[in-house]
Amino acid sequence: MANRLGLSLQQKIPISAGARVYHLPLPSSISITCARNRSCGYRNSTPRRLVLGIGAGLWAQFMSMAGNIGGKSFIASARQKGEIEQVLKNVDWPEQFPFKEEDFQRFDESPDTSFYEAPRFVTHIDDPAIAALTKYYSEVFPPSNTPGVVILDMCSSWVSHFPAGYKQDRIVGMGMNEEELKRNPVLTEYVVQDLNINPKLPFEDNSFDVITNVVSVDYLTKPIDVFKEMCRILKPGGLVIMSFSNRCFWTKAISIWTSTGDAEHVMIVGSYFHYAGGYEPPQAVDISPNPGRSDPMYIVYSKKLASA
Ligand SMILES: C[S@@+](CC[C@H](N)C(=O)[O-])C[C@H]1O[C@@H](n2cnc3c(N)ncnc32)[C@H](O)[C@@H]1O
Repeated sequence: MANRLGLSLQQKIPISAGARVYHLPLPSSISITCARNRSCGYRNSTPRRLVLGIGAGLWAQFMSMAGNIGGKSFIASARQKGEIEQVLKNVDWPEQFPFKEEDFQRFDESPDTSFYEAPRFVTHIDDPAIAALTKYYSEVFPPSNTPGVVILDMCSSWVSHFPAGYKQDRIVGMGMNEEELKRNPVLTEYVVQDLNINPKLPFEDNSFDVITNVVSVDYLTKPIDVFKEMCRILKPGGLVIMSFSNRCFWTKAISIWTSTGDAEHVMIVGSYFHYAGGYEPPQAVDISPNPGRSDPMYIVYSKKLASA
């Protein structure tokens, strides 16, 4: 049976289910309630949708068409290990992309180049979450040093969380800060490009085997354009691994992200694959290492269709 959500937004999404945030600057109206250690994170409980005053109708419309897990709330379900995987099972996608322009607004619409001007040599998720992601990569990546394999780490920084010693002839990083990319030991080359200004990827068709994107999909304001481009540059059967936790640079994340919770994030990323086209049905995996005790970690992945 198709995966359907029948409950209203108020029933489905606790309005305070906003993601954790990484760092300043924050507007004075926002209260920071806790700071975290080396992963530079701050917790924030203020839902941006209230601040921006954007109505919940768009999201309600989408979720009413999306999916319900065994009749339970997504939010409640998402807390149980194993149920994140259900979010993208048999989704009855609306015919048209259900999100509108305002869903991709950010609190801070100043140029991303300014925001990322200074390097941040920090990690954005805690060590257990990083270890879980690295382990996942080690299970799904092509073996190290496979001739011809090309990988793109999109929204990259000074770290990619690839397995220790992992190498390919070509591992490209794309990001916003050159100092960070320069220091990333796994990259063989890098490109600095603002994907919100220019979502066109500067690569040939059918040239990449794997694309990764760690804790950054929530900053993309033109995700369908970017996902179409990813499909174009992937080899047929090429793999995309989008990973995320429950943290973000709150002022730079898109409105639909900061006003929703983990399971909805899975659905949002799944929708990007679906509406971009050219991909196999996206799937979700919960690789959270110690639920409730360290940062959660979710994967939404898909492969380019062999025929695309
Ligand atoms: C939270 S950091 C994550 C960095 C890295 N993936 C990691 O795991 O440490 C977000 C990253 O998204 C990238 N990013 C943010 N906005 C972007 C934009 N408009 N265009 C391209 N990349 C962007 C930046 O390179 C930034 O390093």
